[in-house]
Amino acid sequence: MERLLEVCGDEKDRLEGASAERVLAWALERFGPRVALASGFGAEDVVLIDMWWRLDPNVRVFTLDTGRLHEETYEVMEEVRRKYSITIQSVFPDREDVERLEREHGFYSFRESIEARKTCCGIRKVEPLRRALSGLGAWVTGLRREQAATRVSVRSVEWDAANGLVKVNPLVEWTSSQVWDYIRKHGVPYNALHDRGYPSIGCAPCTRAIQPGEDIRAGRWWWENPEHKECGLHVQSDNSDRRQSN
Ligand code: ADX
Ligand code: SF4
Repeated sequence: MERLLEVCGDEKDRLEGASAERVLAWALERFGPRVALASGFGAEDVVLIDMWWRLDPNVRVFTLDTGRLHEETYEVMEEVRRKYSITIQSVFPDREDVERLEREHGFYSFRESIEARKTCCGIRKVEPLRRALSGLGAWVTGLRREQAATRVSVRSVEWDAANGLVKVNPLVEWTSSQVWDYIRKHGVPYNALHDRGYPSIGCAPCTRAIQPGEDIRAGRWWWENPEHKECGLHVQSDNSDRRQSN
């Protein structure tokens, strides 16, 4: 919390409850070239790309290409890249780490235990994220409070203690309907899997469609309990001095 006050002063309180556009515009103004959007190309992330592009066509966006993404995710990445004429920075896992993981534990080690799953997410997502964030003053994400029990206390502007920079979550208060209204209104390209029962999309072997009435993240790591369903990209920030040990 102290670091956030140092970097953002009391602006962070004024931004709590402000519109998504205002929060994003503040981040662009405050951090200039030292802010980037982390995009997994889910519905929230394409909204943020469009919103950023309307504020400034020079969208800085990176994606963690785990090597296990759905074909549909690459399709929407390409569609977005062309529509907005933007550069999408792919960030890959360390080659030797993945080679070792697959050599020693096979190709589906993440099915064996929560620990093994977190090891895979650590190699394919968390370590590359750390690299992607180095040198930045802030990153923007599509987190929404409504998404999960693990996300109810997310703020618009937070201090990301795990990575040592500001984290900006402009859509924190948005509902799923607001996300889809924005997509339809602005004709934003979206991942075709959303129309096939996938509200939340991660890696292909760890994501499946949900049944009507199920929780929106029920198709992510469906064999685990909801409180474990974070991959380590979003360690709880120090809003309340609590930490999540994902
Ligand atoms: S996850 O941690 O469970 O995978 P989720 O899919 O809900 O996260 O996405 C939450 C936010 O994390 C996205 O809005 C995006 O900002 C970021 N994110 C998720 N996956 C990626 C990815 N592959 N590359 C970059 N950012 C991502
Ligand atoms: Fe590995 Fe699954 Fe995590 Fe992707 S979501 S990094 S495949 S454990």
